[in-house]
Parts: sequence; structure tokens; C-alpha cells
Amino acid sequence: MLTGKKLVEKYLKFFKEKGHAIIPSASLIPENDPTVLFTTAGMHPLVPYLMGQPHPSGKRLVDVQKCVRTGDIDEVGDASHLTFFFMLGNWSLGDYFKKEAIEWSFEFLTSKKWLGLDPKRISVTCFAGDNDAPKDEVSAEVWKSVGIPEERIYFYGKEDNWWGPAGETGPCGPDTEMFYDTGKEKCSEDCKPGCYCGKYFEIWNDVFMQYNKTAGGDFEKLAQQNVDTGMGVERTITMLQGKETVFETEMFKPAMDELWRLANRPIEKSKRIICDHLRAAVFILAEGIVPSNVERGYILRRLIRRSVRHGKLMQIQGNFCSKLGEVFIKTYGDEWHELKKNKKTILGELEKEEQKFATVLSQGIKKFEQIYSKNTKITAQDAFLLFQSYGFPLEMTLEIAKEKGIEINKKAFEKEFAKHQFVSRKGSEKKFKSGLADNSEQTTKFHTATHLLHAALRDVLGDHVQQKGSNITPERLRFDFSHPERLTPVQIKRVEDLVNMAISMRIPVIREEMSLDEARKEGALAFFDSKYVPEKVSVYTIEGMSKEVCAGPHVKNTGDLGKFKIVKEEAVSAGVRRIKAVLE
Ligand code: ALA
Repeated sequence: MLTGKKLVEKYLKFFKEKGHAIIPSASLIPENDPTVLFTTAGMHPLVPYLMGQPHPSGKRLVDVQKCVRTGDIDEVGDASHLTFFFMLGNWSLGDYFKKEAIEWSFEFLTSKKWLGLDPKRISVTCFAGDNDAPKDEVSAEVWKSVGIPEERIYFYGKEDNWWGPAGETGPCGPDTEMFYDTGKEKCSEDCKPGCYCGKYFEIWNDVFMQYNKTAGGDFEKLAQQNVDTGMGVERTITMLQGKETVFETEMFKPAMDELWRLANRPIEKSKRIICDHLRAAVFILAEGIVPSNVERGYILRRLIRRSVRHGKLMQIQGNFCSKLGEVFIKTYGDEWHELKKNKKTILGELEKEEQKFATVLSQGIKKFEQIYSKNTKITAQDAFLLFQSYGFPLEMTLEIAKEKGIEINKKAFEKEFAKHQFVSRKGSEKKFKSGLADNSEQTTKFHTATHLLHAALRDVLGDHVQQKGSNITPERLRFDFSHPERLTPVQIKRVEDLVNMAISMRIPVIREEMSLDEARKEGALAFFDSKYVPEKVSVYTIEGMSKEVCAGPHVKNTGDLGKFKIVKEEAVSAGVRRIKAVLE
């Protein structure tokens, strides 16, 4: 049986024989690209070299790269979508081009010495051409020359046969994709490569990177013609082993089995989600990221919390995340040494995060019981309260209600949730646009936005950032702070993204009273200009984001703010910058 490990070995060996240098997988955290959170493809760490910088290992490279893609997170649980996966790839940095790339792909797929796939079952797609780049006749000709007949060569547009850039700008180009006919019936007359019914299995992608997408959206010719290819390890072995889903392969089987043992009520989809999410979490934790409410830490937190929730659905007793973590470290630790090296931290963080979320869940369950014993029913409004005040997921409320045999109208519940989101969004848009804003409400929002901005600036620029002044009108906030130089566009964008992420997470804003000393001990930011210090101060906490001594007022939940946008950044005096920002 061709295992994932063997496939990787074969691939690297094949391309080594073709003069490629084997390079190690880069980190999951992109070194040179602030526009994305994780490495999303093998080419991602190679961007500077695709742009022309010489690579120390030469012009022909091959590797297996760890990748994280969060765009399809809601699809996870089907046969093949994964958040984390391994990608095999070979590169030409201004060396060989379409002919060799395609001929070698074909040889690796079909030669008995390598994968030995039936050439008659292979079909390919090529770029159809548009205003940015011409139809890829050259690739089609090479495919014909190796024996793929015209009727199995398809031409598609940019949405299917164009790849990149990995971030917002950078190298990209037309690609040619290879599909293997699994032998299943066509789902319809129109069924062809690219159809999702499962008949055509996408096995490999050769990208011809000869363009650079600029910030203005133009496609400029690159100085050199590159090849970038990608083959997903998990998907490919699934097909080669004749399995239906990636979760049946040896890469997931031990973890799936462990879940089967732990769950009192195993649910296939929940098992798959947990396996995908916790495997991703293990590899992310191995890179030194820890769960938090921002950026990578937030993705990690979401992966773990979602797993915990699915564990609950399957009635797993006690904590299980670190148990699964151990299984993954065992499965992958021999090849991926960072897992073994960081085992203690990985398992410790999984345990800690699971415990923390378990508290949210148990508090929610307690509140649920209280409401139910008092009112002998649970209304849609109650469910919303549980969500808003305790972060208790709607799914969980529905689940428990069902277990207790409480009759509920699911539609009404969903409507209630939709209504709140709708009302708050529509409300803030309308008020702002019409200029009929309720001044006090609008300024309250800006007070809270100022706290988020302050925290985000410290996160992005460093702890030297201190508030030097603040002024709020119903139209905008103004915030002065210590920082020696102009903010770059990337820094501005990161600050905006952080604030907007906190808004989208709907974090409660909590007020507590204490002495200034206590507040400082708790780590609250407190910058007092005047000598007079009140006996008690208010501390506003936005969990995971900000804790500040402030007179208020503030909104109850960050979700009420709308969209945050920086409209101006300028100097006020030496070492002090000023930001003006709006809520849309
Ligand atoms: N970069 C290409 C992909 O990810 C090969 O599919």
C-alpha cells in the first residue's frame, strides 16, 4: 500500500533524479508576507525566488510543505477538505518550463516505476485565455505529445486554471491540472473534470508562474519563467489506496480509532472535524503559537474550541484534546521533529484551552438549567442571551433542549439570532449614513473602538505605544499616541484587521470597580495625567484584547460597533502620532 510517507519519499526521489535539490519544509508562519496568517502552499515561502532572487539551493527545487488553509473551514467533515495538509511540489526558478514540467508530471503519474496510473484515465485542463494572458496552447500541445487525446484536454477560465498569488500581490500564472477518472458513473451529461461529484479526482496542479499581480490589479510579466507545482499528499493517497475519504487512510486512522473509543455516541462528521482541527492545532502549536483572541492565536483557538464542542456532541467524558494530540505526535513525530520537541507545550496548551472552554460550556449549561427550572421553557430570546452573555453556542442550546425533551421551534431560534445580527448591523449603518445618529450612542461606540485601537496599536507596534490624547465626536474618533515614526500601510491594515476581528468576535465589554493599585496589578492600562486619583476606578475589560482604566461609557459588546476604518494617520509632534478613524 502506498502510504503518505512512501508517496513523499517517491516524489522527492523522482525529482532528485531530475536534478532537483530537496529543500526542507518552511515554517507555517510566513516570513516575508504580512498579508496572510499562514503558509498556504509550497510556493508561498519561495515567492522572493520566483520573483528573481537567486535561491541558495539552485534553480530546481522539490519539497513537502506544511500548509494551512482556513478558507474552507466549513467544508471540513466531507471526504477531502482539510485545514492543514502536506503539499508536494517541484519548482523551476527560471529554468525549465512547460515541456519538462508536463512530461515529468506525466512520467511520475504513469510510469510503473513510480505511481503507475493508467494513462487512459487521465484528463487535463488548461487555461482558456483572457485579457490578461493568452490561451495556453503550448501546454495542450505537450499533453498531446505524451499521448493525452484532444477530447480529454479541457480549457477553462481564470476561476479554474489560474493560480496565485498566494497573498494579495505576487507571482501567479496559468496552470494545467491533472484529473484521474475514478470509474464512478457521471453525475450528469455535463460531468467533466472539475465537477465535484467525485468522478474526476484532481491529483496535481502545474502552475506556470510568469506574471506578477500588482497592487493595482495588473498582471505584469515576470523577469523569469517559473514552474510551481502542487500535489496534496492526503488527497492523493486516498485515491491511490482506493479509499473514499482522507480519514480512512493511515494518516488519520489512529486518531479516528481513538475517537471511536472515547465517544459514547460517535458521529462520523464530528470525528472528522476533530481529527482535522486538532491535527492542525498540533502543528500550529509546534510553531510556538498559543491560543488567543487575535490573528493566528485566534484561528488556533477556534480549531480547538470547535473540537471541544464536537467532542461534547459525541458525549466524550472528560478532556480529550491532549489525548488526540498525543496520537498525532506519535503518527507524525518521526518525520516532523518539531512535534516531539515541543510535545510538552503542545499537550499543555491543548489541555489549558479545552479546560477554559469547558468553563464557558458549563457556565452556559448552568444558566440554561436555571432558566428552564424557573420558566419551564427555553425561548429564542433565552438562547440568544446564553449566546451573548456566556458565549454559549446556539447548537449547544438546541442539543440540550432536545436531550431534555423540551419542545422548541428551531426556526424561531434561528430567526432570533438572525434578527439581532441584522438589527445591529442595519441600525449602525442607517444611523451613520443618514447623519441622524443618536450622538450619545455613537460616541459610546467610539469610546470602545478607542480601547480596541489602543490595544491593536500596542500589539502591532509594541508596548511603547501609550495614549497621549483622545477626542471623540459623533462622526469620528481621534487618538494620539507615542510612536517615533509614520505607520506603514501594512501596519495600518493590521491594526484595522485586529480591531475588526475583535468586533466580529462579539466580545462582551465588562466593567468592574477597584482601586487603582488593584487595577494596575491586574494589568490594566492606566495613564493618569492629573495628580488626583479617585479611590475607586472603573476597569473595562474586552477579554483577550484590552483592559483599561476608564470612566466610560462603553457599549456592552464589541459586536455593536460596525466596521472600523482608519481614515488618517499623521504626526502631531516629535514622537507623537495621530490617528483618525470611523465606524461604518
Ligand atoms: N501553488 C499551486 C497550488 O497550490 C501549485 O495548487
